[in-house]
Amino acid sequence: MNSNSKITVFGGSGLVGSSILRELKKQGYQNLDAPRSKELNLLDKNQVEEYFKTKQPEFVFMVAGLVGGIYGNMTHPADFLYQNSMMILNIMEAIKNFSPQTKILFTASTCIYPKENPQPIKETRFMTGPLEETNKGYAVAKGLGIVATQLYRQQYNIQSIAVMPTNMYGPNDTYDLKNGHMIPSLIKKFVEAKKNNTSLTFWGTGKPRREALYVDDCADACIYLMNNYEEKELINIGTGFDYSIKEFIAILEEVIDYKAQINWDTSKPDGTLEKRTDITRLKKIMPNFAPRFFQAGLKETLKADFGWKN
Ligand SMILES: NC(=O)c1ccc[n+]([C@@H]2O[C@H](COP(=O)([O-])OP(=O)(O)OC[C@H]3O[C@@H](n4cnc5c(N)ncnc54)[C@H](OP(=O)(O)O)[C@@H]3O)[C@@H](O)[C@H]2O)c1
Repeated sequence: MNSNSKITVFGGSGLVGSSILRELKKQGYQNLDAPRSKELNLLDKNQVEEYFKTKQPEFVFMVAGLVGGIYGNMTHPADFLYQNSMMILNIMEAIKNFSPQTKILFTASTCIYPKENPQPIKETRFMTGPLEETNKGYAVAKGLGIVATQLYRQQYNIQSIAVMPTNMYGPNDTYDLKNGHMIPSLIKKFVEAKKNNTSLTFWGTGKPRREALYVDDCADACIYLMNNYEEKELINIGTGFDYSIKEFIAILEEVIDYKAQINWDTSKPDGTLEKRTDITRLKKIMPNFAPRFFQAGLKETLKADFGWKN
């Protein structure tokens, strides 16, 4: 990409898309387009075709999607399947038919790897075992998107790459305690508990370990890969380190400066004990990739989304 390349970010209002836009601007890219779903509904094949016919973007970051936590996935599994499948298929067909010079980067997610994995999870685990029941619709659709990037490349020479980001958090996140993701929910619960001076209850034992990728580090990697990666193989974008839920809580207590009374509801399941991504492949392509620790990203997030002054 050069500073005048025509670059489109689909999903530019969301957590990842807004970060990619911020980073692109910071790095001097000027010719950016980020249509909202109201202007361009990616579920509408005709609108998508028209967009590629008229705009002919050179680079597309496809980070739009129907995204949510366990509750959202369990209550709307068909919507997650349908919408995430149709968006990427409409785009790949439109690129093939009307804008074959476009290079596209598609974000899937590490949560679509099989339920059980040797740790850390390598890219080669994709489609090698039974899926987590709770997000099957999402996982199948995202898996379809990855395969689409590979097959349109194979048959039509479309320059398409796919990445697997891990759990993210950061400015402009969705803080929906019912439908949201684990890390933003934890942050929001702590901020609320401090405000109201209340206790907090969590499921399980607090022992499961999870990664936390600050969204700007993911955006950096996506932009770098758009510029430097040209293969069909998937690339994990993780951190290489993780925290137990208890460790996340200790960091939140310290940074937010609130020692909450924590209750553990051990009648509820812990879920998978460990989910860490192997980032060897990414580090080979981008040796300087150095995702920040949760303390640092948390402070940035609190400043951006909660008016935190420290
Ligand atoms: N958040 C995470 O922790 C995480 C982890 C791994 C992977 N990912 C992946 O990263 C990508 C972005 O996630 P996110 O957390 O940034 O999502 P998000 O904050 O929920 O944003 C979703 C974006 O998708 C757009 N969108 C939804 N339906 C659309 C439609 N029909 N037409 C056009 N645009 C539509 C929305 O646009 P409008 O606002 O204009 O409707 C919004 O910009 C997703 O592919 C997700 O699978 C996220």
